[in-house]
Amino acid sequence: MILVTGGAGFIGSNFVLNWLVQSDESIVNLDKLTYAGNLKNLASIQGDSRHQFVQGDIGDAHLIARILKQHQPRAIINFAAESHVDRSIHGPEDFIQTNILGTFRLLEVVRGYWGELDAAEKRDFRFLHVSTDEVYGSLAREEAAFTEQHRYQPNSPYSASKASSDHLVRAYHHTYGLPVLTTNCSNNYGPFQFPEKLIPLMIVNALEGKPLPVYGDGQQIRDWLYVIDHCNAICRVLEAGTVGEVYNIGGWNEKPNIEIIHKICGLLQETYPDSSFQHLITYVTDRPGHDRRYAIDASKIERELNWKPADTFDSGIRKTIQWYLQHRSWITDVQTGAYREWMEKNYAGERS
Ligand code: NAD
Ligand code: DAU
Repeated sequence: MILVTGGAGFIGSNFVLNWLVQSDESIVNLDKLTYAGNLKNLASIQGDSRHQFVQGDIGDAHLIARILKQHQPRAIINFAAESHVDRSIHGPEDFIQTNILGTFRLLEVVRGYWGELDAAEKRDFRFLHVSTDEVYGSLAREEAAFTEQHRYQPNSPYSASKASSDHLVRAYHHTYGLPVLTTNCSNNYGPFQFPEKLIPLMIVNALEGKPLPVYGDGQQIRDWLYVIDHCNAICRVLEAGTVGEVYNIGGWNEKPNIEIIHKICGLLQETYPDSSFQHLITYVTDRPGHDRRYAIDASKIERELNWKPADTFDSGIRKTIQWYLQHRSWITDVQTGAYREWMEKNYAGERS
């Protein structure tokens, strides 16, 4: 079996659902259930014996040691993190706690567990750390996309904390021989993304007739990847990646924020021809230290692991908008906090 951390969040829950469609290998899912963790994302596998949820913190060494002893995972995929740049600007402390100290504590316990495995299990064990392109800093318009060799130059408390965790993971391989893999991915979008991030925020606000806040001039560029493509890339790295290596993951799909917002407005208008959304676009004060451009050079994973994204931005954004249109109660529950009560009611027996 495998251990997934942060599997009730946006990418983690997509990963768990996608994994169980493709494989019968069981998952233990450890998640602290911060504001970003939502067990409703996993409602479709409620009662599935291949999935076991444990509420807890990656920084809780006793809990992690107990899980490892009990379940003997062959691999760990670490999604757990504080992930929102704006929140890291308002309050960096949680980012340091989870992304740096939490990853460190997790690595320490995993190192002990791995050290006790027999030779074959030791060789085959993997610790896959899920990271971000933001660790590489910001690109000027004419600069080449980030390769795995690009120097680390994180600019926000979030990206600095992720960079720090990447360095710890690297050091645990270099110093102790822990068989690690690191992935650095570009911006994801798709079902179950918390409506604090650009794409779901714009969809949700537009549907409610609220302003669509554009930071600064809206010309910042992000490189967008449909979340299931990211999940499949992680599976591929886990399956065939070379221990100790880093793999950049991206969709070769750079777009300025304002173009994304116009696209969302246009697609919503196809569904609601009598409504108009563009007039909701509102320019607001820029994010402090706002990175201008991210772009991922995904040649290494394409060449070495034969991975390519299946979705284009056009197909991915259409699916995403449809998902939000069809899951209005998910949106309401997230906005009102009702998803927390639902979790208490429905998962009381499934928490360890
Ligand atoms: P998210 O905020 O939606 O989910 C994070 C999950 O981690 C939540 O379920 C939360 O409850 C859990 N968590 C937080 N602190 C924890 C702790 N101390 N112990 C256990 N669980 C904890 O984030 P996401 O967008 O799904 O991102 C997942 C990972 O992917 C993160 O490591 C992030 O840095 C990385 N990443 C995200 C993107 C993106 O575009 N969203 C792109 C590249 C990489
Ligand atoms: O690049 C990968 C990263 O992408 C991940 O590591 C992070 O976890 C994830 O949150 C994301 O970070 P960004 O800061 O790029 O994502 P966000 O959705 O917050 O913002 C995307 C862009 O849109 C960014 O340039 C800021 C801008 N923006 C965002 C919001 C929420 C706006 O203009 N208005 C908004 O209201």
